[in-house]
Amino acid sequence: MPNPFRHYEGAPVLDLPADPPSPEIPALELLRGGTGATEAVDGPAFLSELLFYSASISASKLVPSTGDRYALRVNPSSGNLHPTEFHFVTRGLKEWPDGLYHYRPSSHMAEQRATGDFDMKLIASSALIVFVLTSIAWREAWKYRDRAYRYCLHDIGHAWQALALAARAMGCDGLAVRDFPDDDVARLCRLHEDEWPMLILELRGKSIPVREPDHRETVWYGGQANQLSKETIAYPWIESIHGATKPTLNTPAEPAPSGSGEIKLPVPASSTLAFGEVARKRRSALDFVGFTPSMSLAQLSAVMSTTRPDFIQLYLYVHRVDGLEPGVYRYWPESAELEQIRSGDQRVAAAGLSLGQDLAGNACVAFSMIGDLDRAVRALGDRGYRYVHFEAGAIGQRLYLAAEALGLGATGIGAFFDDEVHRYLNLASEPAHVVVYHFAIGYPVPDPRVVA
Ligand SMILES: Cc1cc2nc3c(=O)[nH]c(=O)nc-3n(C[C@H](O)[C@H](O)[C@H](O)COP(=O)(O)O)c2cc1C
Repeated sequence: MPNPFRHYEGAPVLDLPADPPSPEIPALELLRGGTGATEAVDGPAFLSELLFYSASISASKLVPSTGDRYALRVNPSSGNLHPTEFHFVTRGLKEWPDGLYHYRPSSHMAEQRATGDFDMKLIASSALIVFVLTSIAWREAWKYRDRAYRYCLHDIGHAWQALALAARAMGCDGLAVRDFPDDDVARLCRLHEDEWPMLILELRGKSIPVREPDHRETVWYGGQANQLSKETIAYPWIESIHGATKPTLNTPAEPAPSGSGEIKLPVPASSTLAFGEVARKRRSALDFVGFTPSMSLAQLSAVMSTTRPDFIQLYLYVHRVDGLEPGVYRYWPESAELEQIRSGDQRVAAAGLSLGQDLAGNACVAFSMIGDLDRAVRALGDRGYRYVHFEAGAIGQRLYLAAEALGLGATGIGAFFDDEVHRYLNLASEPAHVVVYHFAIGYPVPDPRVVA
């Protein structure tokens, strides 16, 4: 297993203040478009709060049989392998030198890779903070082989949303830049060859504490990226799909098709749990309590109201939702309606389709996220393939937080039988509607190995 932590050996390390204040905006309000505020008065305090509620270690897992202890983070990751790295460029932050940094989650610190006026002309950004999220595919590939590429993309989607939501909880906006010249950005940030830039996120807003920019020349500190494992195995298909999805294209997206169903979702349930608390408490359930109890239709309505799908279509395998007959439903977001496409008990089917994982049958509701690859490729070129996975991960992150805010649990499910799901959902006439991600929400079985 490659090291899940990248370090730049020899680079200066800057402290991020411990115990930053917790963003108080209720998580559900934030997920439905609300904006919070921060008390941060300088750059270090701002960055500390932002990263503590989006990317830091939030618990650990103790395996009694081996005595091993694993770190768990605010952002989830398939197999807890964490292929995503957070790099960021700052300019004009109060009491914080301009430069290029890499976040070190193992100690909640920032590694200073370069100082000075860092050139982000490549993406024409004038934002005060620009994140470059990268993937190290080898961290997933040693275990999941070629399918690992998709997990890396999902994980970027989760990390993107974790960061964008923490930023909005602190009163600023995060704008994702989907198309940028990959190789130039990798060169500019002097990324190790095992690391690929995937998504850029610009943060803007009045809550960012600023000073006058000082326009100094860039100075590199030459920190060496650590080697993550003694050996690496090449996965040519991963290299090839990554290469094939590099070209950029940005044409206005056509609107998502609209439709309707016979079931109108009721007024969403509410929750006052604060975002900061919810983000740090979020965990993946290993399994759910089967048979009883049910979740309410108002809770389901609240969960669905946070999803904001665009290139993704959501299908629900309803097992135990009060007032909703078990079956498979398609969700129509504009009208907040459900259209029933299959009736009857779906527990065996949902678990079977998710590679025989019981949790998809024991949940109250399981999901298939279907990507409209045709529409994504018309808008973004072949890069659209990455983007449908980013969006699925982002929706997954919102589902995790919504479920936690409502006292439920959730788990992202990357392992499923693509072709069987496609057939089961009667998508034969839509070959470019691909199965991108699965998800489940229910009452979690407590995991005694997780320690706070
Ligand atoms: C993209 C993705 C795919 C995942 N796939 C599965 C899965 O198929 N089965 C499962 O039990 N957990 C799955 N998980 C949950 C991870 O195992 C979990 O996020 C990881 O162990 C870290 O735990 P945490 O979410 O509590 O931080 C997935 C998570 C993500 C983000």
